[in-house]
Amino acid sequence: MEKKNIDWSNLNFGYIQTEKRYVSWFKDGAWDEGALTEDATVVLNECAGVLQYAQTIFEGLKAYTTDDGHIVAFRPDLNGERMEDSARRLEMPAFPKERFVDAVTKVVAANAAYVPPYGSGATLYVRPYMFGANSVIGVKPADVYQFRIFCTPVGPYFKGGVKPLTICVSDFDRAAPHGTGHIKAGLNYAMSLHAIVSAHKNGFDENMYLDPGTRTRVEETGGANFLFVTRDGKVVTPRSDSILPSITRRSLMHVAKEYLGLEVEEREVYLEELKDFAECGLCGTAAVISPVGKIVDHGREICLPSGMTEMGPVTKKLYDTLTGIQMGRIEAPEGWIHIIE
Ligand code: PLP
Ligand code: COI
Repeated sequence: MEKKNIDWSNLNFGYIQTEKRYVSWFKDGAWDEGALTEDATVVLNECAGVLQYAQTIFEGLKAYTTDDGHIVAFRPDLNGERMEDSARRLEMPAFPKERFVDAVTKVVAANAAYVPPYGSGATLYVRPYMFGANSVIGVKPADVYQFRIFCTPVGPYFKGGVKPLTICVSDFDRAAPHGTGHIKAGLNYAMSLHAIVSAHKNGFDENMYLDPGTRTRVEETGGANFLFVTRDGKVVTPRSDSILPSITRRSLMHVAKEYLGLEVEEREVYLEELKDFAECGLCGTAAVISPVGKIVDHGREICLPSGMTEMGPVTKKLYDTLTGIQMGRIEAPEGWIHIIE
């Protein structure tokens, strides 16, 4: 299979239309068998549930070319599980996780020419999503849905690749207590748009959101969980019911403990203790691990000792081990790597 003529090493995190995508309809109480299509447009009635009441959820995962030439996806079963959880919270029918993995496999295989080559620094980002498709005017769930998956080759999420970021403590909340922060609903991201535009205008790369109840604890950013490293080398990640359970973060905590022999802790992390950490990183599918060099809390600057020029040493080890596993250079734990071809 011949690869597309794309400047892989200079891709940013953008959308490039590929040839095939997957569509399945839910009608009369059941999902149809689903199919690949070349049609990238979605045509909906003006009163569709997604347009009126934002009934939409999504996922994000990546496919990679490994050093021995396979195309693989990283833990797609966990994305399938999380999407089932998201669907239940928004009163949508769950698309079964086994079918989810099968559909991801079909889309990636059908777009193999767009999977960036090994060593290019780029990956294929896979975006499953689902939305209420029939007309709904009273506030209630739709009863017709589309589940779709497209993919697009991408480079780093943050410009500058692995250069440490400067983030600010946001005055806005991304989630409500007992709300939808723990699922991947489009509405959470709509909520964050004003906050991210404001952060960028003020010269910051991202927002640090605090817990919406007390505004004393660290939650996450608009698109990634936090990892911190203590001065004695322990890896700490915030525990909260209103953050997205990141698959990257869960994987990194395993890598830290089982591959690197580090102590790990998932617990409440207070804004007031940030000054005591040695390293900070943002972790997620898109972000991988992006190091944070500085956190600004309303004019108070917290400079991480790891500095503004490179990743801290523990963050770097975590990054190298995780990407080594994803690219096939390091043996993966059982079930983490799904071979597509
Ligand atoms: N938190 C938010 C709000 C996200 O959008 C994402 C991205 O999916 C993550 C965390 C990271 O999750 P994952 O590692 O599963 O991609
Ligand atoms: C991902 O990492 O897959 C996400 O969905 C985050 C988004 C901000 C691109």
